[in-house]
Amino acid sequence: MKFFVDTAEIAEIRALAATGLLDGVTTNPSLIAKSGRNILDVIAEICEVVSGPVSAEVAATEYEQMMKEAKVLRQIAKNVAIKVPLTPDGLRVCHALAKEGTQVNVTLCFSPAQALLAAKAGASFISPFVGRLDDIGQNGMELIADIVQIYGNYPSIKTEVLVASIRNPIHLIEAAKMGADVATIPPGVIKQLYHHPLTDKGLSAFLADWAKTGQSIA
Ligand code: G3P
Repeated sequence: MKFFVDTAEIAEIRALAATGLLDGVTTNPSLIAKSGRNILDVIAEICEVVSGPVSAEVAATEYEQMMKEAKVLRQIAKNVAIKVPLTPDGLRVCHALAKEGTQVNVTLCFSPAQALLAAKAGASFISPFVGRLDDIGQNGMELIADIVQIYGNYPSIKTEVLVASIRNPIHLIEAAKMGADVATIPPGVIKQLYHHPLTDKGLSAFLADWAKTGQSIA
């Protein structure tokens, strides 16, 4: 399973890239706004740090303007994946860009039918939002299971299932059990993945015993 980080904060991205765990980055207009920086500068900086796909989202909603924005964004670096919303215009942009060999991440997916449309439009990634479905009392993980099953029925579908709106480690593990291709994870949830109380307890015991030996290794 590939790990992307869902942030536009370059310091966090640098730190994660150094761990070797990071396969890509996703951003969205809200994350760019939170960074307080210019989108073109942020995406360029991220692409210098991460060689995998870096999703940059268009802000327009009408085909011609979306195409203009996509062309500006994809010129930043070869690994920019253009993110478009799951709308008729968004999927038309997806189809046009995919034909030109540009990676497209179709975002704001909340149903299996939408995911099927994105695959037919040639998306490289489909981004179903699990947390936001949970928020309205629906089961986000069921959507992932449905999409993985549907895509699995058709070997010609190359679209990768990119699980988005992940809120906790359970979302990630459930997605991995289902065979989702990618998870885009907020930095705070990535930090949670390392922790287990028995790891902390075990390490404390080892260190205490080691101190009794009076030895040093290096
Ligand atoms: O980037 C898209 C998605 O991951 C957003 O997550 O937490 O705002 O629902 P969230």
